[in-house]
Amino acid sequence: MEFAAIYNQPVIDLGDKCDDESLRGIYSPSYPDELLERFLNDQFTRDAAIYAKQSEHTRASGSLLERALRTCGHEGLKEQARQILDLGSGAGNSVLPILEKFPHANLIASDLSPNMLLALKQNLLNANLLNRCTLMQLNAEEPDFKSASMDLVVGFAVLHHLFKPDKTILGCANILKDDGVAIFVEPFENGNYMLAQLYKQILGHQCASELDPKVKTVLSNRICFVTDRIGLDKSDPRFETYDDKWQFTRHGFQTFSRQAGFRDCLIMPVSQSATPFTEKTLFMLKRKTDLSEPLPTWALEIIGDFENTVSPEFLYELPNEATVIFMK
Ligand SMILES: C[S@@+](CC[C@H](N)C(=O)[O-])C[C@H]1O[C@@H](n2cnc3c(N)ncnc32)[C@H](O)[C@@H]1O
Repeated sequence: MEFAAIYNQPVIDLGDKCDDESLRGIYSPSYPDELLERFLNDQFTRDAAIYAKQSEHTRASGSLLERALRTCGHEGLKEQARQILDLGSGAGNSVLPILEKFPHANLIASDLSPNMLLALKQNLLNANLLNRCTLMQLNAEEPDFKSASMDLVVGFAVLHHLFKPDKTILGCANILKDDGVAIFVEPFENGNYMLAQLYKQILGHQCASELDPKVKTVLSNRICFVTDRIGLDKSDPRFETYDDKWQFTRHGFQTFSRQAGFRDCLIMPVSQSATPFTEKTLFMLKRKTDLSEPLPTWALEIIGDFENTVSPEFLYELPNEATVIFMK
């Protein structure tokens, strides 16, 4: 791929810069070390291989993309798209489905972490797909591509790591062609905050002493995690050290969308379950405690009663994680 035709800055091959053959074929505008240190912590640098292994198949990325394209009426992009950018690609959860679904498109798969890009390169080699994809070290806050150069931008679980996700969204509005779309999947405050309230009820219940101590710790940590990340203001110095900085809201994304000049911003929960809170809680507790039945019936009822009492429409407004589609 000819970078000069599409990207506004000169790029170098990280294989040359780092004198490391394994990095050959990963292009970069060449970032200073301080920028990488500010954005990335150990899980995406030193421990990238472990993260890549653990995050394999954690999201049904292909079906989320399909649903997003259907919802915004852009299924035609699968045949028509010629240039796609994936932001924060990690080891490739969204990259592999994009290559499968968009057979005529050039894909730039990007991430700020060279270690994550190495894991991606290996996954693409294993799938015999490296020749269909350009790998790029890119700060998602600075998508400095030519105006109107992209048919589609995709970012799965990347915006909440950034200091200024609104800069990324503004950048997407610039680099997308007319009628192009940007699709993101991100954590949401609405559902996570509601769940934290239910966890408080469980921990304050008269039978709470029955709970396994590991369960109590996970639920308490989750309450702290959620309440510590509320709101749009991330200027407090503590956020400099946080990997996960954001949980978004519909209003917040719609504000970013308006500021960037998108014509519409559609938001839909990732989970299509009628019991998303129960599922998320059991998934999290089983993974973090290794207990096969981490919650007693009374605790499950606290969550289940809430899910059964509110309308499906209200639950829809309480996603833990949602797909966000910006339409130019
Ligand atoms: C939670 S992982 C998601 C990876 C992949 N999209 C997936 O769905 O599995 C977040 C990724 O964002 C990358 N990242 C963090 N900050 C970034 C930045 N400023 N620019 C680009 N990528 C970044 C990390 O290196 C990591 O690979």
